[in-house]
Amino acid sequence: MDYQWYPGHMTKAKRMMQEDIKLIDLIIELVDARIPVSSRNPDIDELGKNKARVILLNKADLADDAANREWNDFFAEKGYLTVLLDARSKAGMGTLTNVIREACREKIERDRRRGIINRPVRAMVAGIPNVGKSTFINTFAGKACAKTGNRPGVTKGKQWIRLNKNVELLDTPGILWPKFEDQTVGLRLAMVGSIRDEILNVQELALELIRFLKEAYPGALDARYGCGEQPQDAAVLAEIAKSRGCLLKGQELDYEKASGILLDDFRSGKLGRITLERPLLPSGAK
Ligand code: G4P
Repeated sequence: MDYQWYPGHMTKAKRMMQEDIKLIDLIIELVDARIPVSSRNPDIDELGKNKARVILLNKADLADDAANREWNDFFAEKGYLTVLLDARSKAGMGTLTNVIREACREKIERDRRRGIINRPVRAMVAGIPNVGKSTFINTFAGKACAKTGNRPGVTKGKQWIRLNKNVELLDTPGILWPKFEDQTVGLRLAMVGSIRDEILNVQELALELIRFLKEAYPGALDARYGCGEQPQDAAVLAEIAKSRGCLLKGQELDYEKASGILLDDFRSGKLGRITLERPLLPSGAK
C-alpha cells in the first residue's frame, strides 16, 4: 500500500497476471466486503476469462451482516461462487475448500474422462492492494503446508503451496490495481484505507464518512463519541475532537487529528460492522 498507481505499475501488474493465469485453473478473487464493487477491478473478468473463479468477500468481520448476505446473493445471482471470510481466521477455510472443488467441477470431470484422476486444482489469489491477499495465503496455507517447489515444465521461480491433495496455490498473489476513475469509488477506497490518505484531504474524507454514517448507521457516532444529534457534519467532527482531547496550541480544536481517529476507528471496526455500499440501494455503486 505504499505506492500509488501509475500506468507503468498497471502494465507490469497486468503482464504478471497474464503470465501467472496461464498456469492456473482457478482464480480466488478477494474483494473487501465493505465495498465489494469498489474494491473490484473489473478487468479481472477479461484477464480471467475461461478460468474458474471464486469470489471471497473478505473482511466480512468488519462488514454489516445483513449487507454481507445481500452481497452474497448479488454475486450468486451473477453466477459466481462466493464465500464470506475473515482471512485472519481459519474458520471458513473448510467451506472454501469445498467451494473451490465446486468451482472446478467441470475441470475435474474433464480430467476424469481423460483418465487423469486426482490432479490437484491449481489456483491463484488476486485482488487490489490491502484487500487481505497475503493474510489469506498465510492463514489458508498455514504452517503445515509444504511448498512444492519448482515443477518441471512450469515457469522457473514459481512456488506452489500444496493446501491438500486437491488444491495447490501459487504463493505470489496477482495484484490488481484499484480502479478509481469514479469519484465515489475513490472515496470508498480511501475510507477503508485502500488508497493512501494523502490522495484525499483527511478532513474531507472524515466529513464524507460522517455524512454517510448519519444516514446509513444513525446512532453509531453517538454511541462511540457521545456527540448527540448534530445537524452539521462539521459539528460532529468538533464533538469528536472534544471527546478525544484533540487540541492545538491555544485550545483550538485539532480537526485533522480528530479525522484520523474517526477513520482509524471505522477501519478497525470500533464504530461497529459497517458496509459502505449495498447492492440494492440506488446509491450502491454497481
Ligand atoms: P494485501 O496482501 O492484499 O495487500 O493485504 P494484507 O494481507 O497485507 O492485509 C491488509 C490488512 O488487512 C492487514 O492489516 C490485515 O491484517 C488486514 N486483514 C486482512 N484480512 C482481514 C480480514 O478478513 N479481517 C480483518 N479485520 N482484517 C483483515 P494491517 O493493519 O495492514 O496489518 P496488521 O495490523 O494485521 O499487521
